[in-house]
Amino acid sequence: MTLPRTRVSELLQLDHPVIQGPFGGGLSSLELAAAVSNAGGLGSFGAQHLSPEQLTETIRALRERTDRAFNVNLWVSTHDVPEETFDWDAAVARLRPLYDAAGVAPPERPRPSAYAFDVLAEALIMSRPPVFSFVYGVPDARILDACREAGIVTIGTAVTVDEAVALDEAGVDAIVASGFEAGGHRIAFLRPPGESLIGTLALVPATVDAVQAPVIAAGGIADARQVAAAFALGAEAVQVGTAFLATRQSAASPAHREALSHGPRDTRLTKAFTGRLARALASDFRLADSAPFPYQAMLTRPLVSAHWAGQSAPLVQPDQDAVELLLRLVAV
Ligand SMILES: Cc1cc2nc3c(=O)[nH]c(=O)nc-3n(C[C@H](O)[C@H](O)[C@H](O)COP(=O)(O)O)c2cc1C
Repeated sequence: MTLPRTRVSELLQLDHPVIQGPFGGGLSSLELAAAVSNAGGLGSFGAQHLSPEQLTETIRALRERTDRAFNVNLWVSTHDVPEETFDWDAAVARLRPLYDAAGVAPPERPRPSAYAFDVLAEALIMSRPPVFSFVYGVPDARILDACREAGIVTIGTAVTVDEAVALDEAGVDAIVASGFEAGGHRIAFLRPPGESLIGTLALVPATVDAVQAPVIAAGGIADARQVAAAFALGAEAVQVGTAFLATRQSAASPAHREALSHGPRDTRLTKAFTGRLARALASDFRLADSAPFPYQAMLTRPLVSAHWAGQSAPLVQPDQDAVELLLRLVAV
């Protein structure tokens, strides 16, 4: 069986209907995104943590590395509590015993701790990447209109059918339907994340039935059997995160890559690392006194490094080249 040409392949001029999922928080790399795009898939760069200037520079660097389509990703919702009202000093004081026990200095408060979505989206649109994907919401019509005018393909992300319908009504070009198997954050935006836990096998066909836009299946997909299954469910492309995170070209640390490739690879959903619910390899790290996103991520950085992973982690091949992975995924 070969994978059919789909609306997603046509829209993005892909040889292979596979998207390398974006990784926020510094885990994306230019090398990985460019390798996947140059090999005929869609490479992505998670830019949620960058400044507007860094975002502009990243898009320039990606354009230099590939003539094919590539995707840049932002988060629509960037703060659970506004910068002005979060009491950083009190949060540091609460965690002081943990910093002392670990023998590390408390982190300095970064200002701003994250840039607002509108500011980053404006910088992104000015640089006109071929594709703009986003999570945690639906951008204003003004932003989506500006993307259409600039010829930027837009991809929204849904974890429930209702979210997919909201994105479809806003007129996005394609929709990622992300099951709860996925690694990283649970990017729910209509209902609390804990009430938005639908598996890929259930979410994808229900989403296909409910929306006009082509659907991209994500969550738990790491080999060709699962790609074939996603297409059987009506998906017109797949988005793969965890398996690409483990490849040689990703920016994951050696310890993270090792943990993904060997040993116990059961995962948990936890708010402990960043203040928002996210899936990582199981660990003992707990914080009762958790701060909201994005502050928790900064407060815990000196103490712990999350080994993000989805439920497909046991299927991940150690030390694989990203292009080899792409070709294995489509060898159905
Ligand atoms: C470490 C990590 C960071 C991620 N960051 C983002 C992000 O910033 N934006 C986004 O749209 N998706 C993000 N994702 C989701 C992936 O792009 C992809 O949709 C997901 O990993 C697919 O599920 P899988 O991990 O089961 O393959 C992240 C995933 C991981 C593992």
